[in-house]
Amino acid sequence: MRIVIVGPGALGCLVGGLLSKKAEVWLLDRDPKRAERIIKNQGITCQGASGKWTAKIPATAKAADIGEADLIILCVKAYHTKEALLHARDCIRKDTTVLTLQNGLGHIEVIKEFVDEQNLLVGVTNHGVTLIGEGQIQHAGTGETIIGNLEGFLPARARQIREIFNESGLDTKLSRNIKGVLWSKLIINCGINPVSALTRLKNGQLMHQETCAEVIRGAVTEAVRVAKRGRVQLVYDDPLAKVESVCEATGPNRSSMLQDVLARKKTEIDFINGVILRQARSYGIPTPVNQLLVNLVKTIESSYGEMVDGQGS
Ligand code: PAF
Repeated sequence: MRIVIVGPGALGCLVGGLLSKKAEVWLLDRDPKRAERIIKNQGITCQGASGKWTAKIPATAKAADIGEADLIILCVKAYHTKEALLHARDCIRKDTTVLTLQNGLGHIEVIKEFVDEQNLLVGVTNHGVTLIGEGQIQHAGTGETIIGNLEGFLPARARQIREIFNESGLDTKLSRNIKGVLWSKLIINCGINPVSALTRLKNGQLMHQETCAEVIRGAVTEAVRVAKRGRVQLVYDDPLAKVESVCEATGPNRSSMLQDVLARKKTEIDFINGVILRQARSYGIPTPVNQLLVNLVKTIESSYGEMVDGQGS
């Protein structure tokens, strides 16, 4: 199976590196210079939960170098989805499967503009992984990956993908309730991600500070109310307990939103808490905690250049 990983971020490197043990894997990067450097640096190197390993996978910025693929795995930030699919165009044939492992919701509508529903798979992964350099990752904690089709059917390709993922060491299951799985992850992210980005605490520290835990519980409780109103079937019974266990399981990890803020990059707040706000508005449900988190994270991402750094002015 020829697999193209779009986006050499933390998750793209982890999944690409592990899958390359069992399949032909390419890394498609929008930055040609970075792709060259990743090749020069011997591909991907990882340390942490999946052990210490190196994967010499080819990287390129030209989709035509790769040719048609059986599977494209989207690992770019949700707000780069359209650009990424346009970039990967030469790899997509009529029956290429596109699997998104991106955080949040909202980008799936964009993917549907490029891919037939029957070739679209949505995945949710709970690995805690941090990019520590180009092609270099710290795997803080393993987690399950769940894959499904939004229509609830499970095509043969999905089973094949599950096999390859599992054989590569990525613990993977299929689900007919992928919408529920997506919302279940969204609810976890809507608490952990903005609060860690604002406090700059690692996941494992968040619930140990009562003042911080209170904010997370507030955001999660609102999000659960919205999901219930939308008749989404969550995949766990106790969302607050689940958030706590994810914080523990990925304790040493800096959430993806914290990593973005530290790198002074745009965050995925619109695709996480922003989704909760939009959905809540349509139901008339108040979500003040999520609104506050959105406002503060948006303030941070639009004022990196103006922040006081404690060193002077
Ligand atoms: O976005 C993230 O960082 C991850 O989804 C999670 C599970 C919160 C771990 O850090």
